Amino acid sequence: MSVVKINVLTVPAEMRQELERRFSSRAGMVESADGFEWFELLRPVEGTDRYMVYTRWRSEDDFRRWTESRAFQRGHGEGGGAGHGHGQEQGQEAGQGHGHGEGAGHGHGQSPAATAAELWSFEVVQSTGPGGQES
Ligand code: HEM
Repeated sequence: MSVVKINVLTVPAEMRQELERRFSSRAGMVESADGFEWFELLRPVEGTDRYMVYTRWRSEDDFRRWTESRAFQRGHGEGGGAGHGHGQEQGQEAGQGHGHGEGAGHGHGQSPAATAAELWSFEVVQSTGPGGQES
């Protein structure tokens, strides 16, 4: 049974663009993870003003392994699993900076665009695509 993990981010209006830019520059961070099934960054339009980082995984264990992986920790700041949102302040540690740092226009020592994050977990009970195709 797949699991859905949604990271819910509170982002001040003036930081939205910056948040989206940071996500685009981190494309590729999750795609090759074992058991990864889907990712969407959802921009709020109505009903909430929080962004949702939707991810779907083959299993809870696959998600856990990803959050413990270097790929995740590199993208979210070292040494804290899901506890940290981003690693830009930790850039001094040798070999652990972002591959895309300056090229992607990141500043250094910037604070997170998100002011809060909350992780929601779900089990996929039913799922369907166009034509009844299971996904
Ligand atoms: C459900 C799985 C995920 C968890 C638990 C997670 C964890 C977090 C947390 C806690 C934050 C905000 C921390 C803060 O308050 O600053 C955050 C922000 C961020 N995450 Fe994730 N994340 C997940 C998925 C992803 C994925 C799949 C990507 C890349 C495609 C990603 C890239 C980023 C980026 C770029 C930020 C923005 C940092 C900022 O605020 O400037 N995350 N994540």
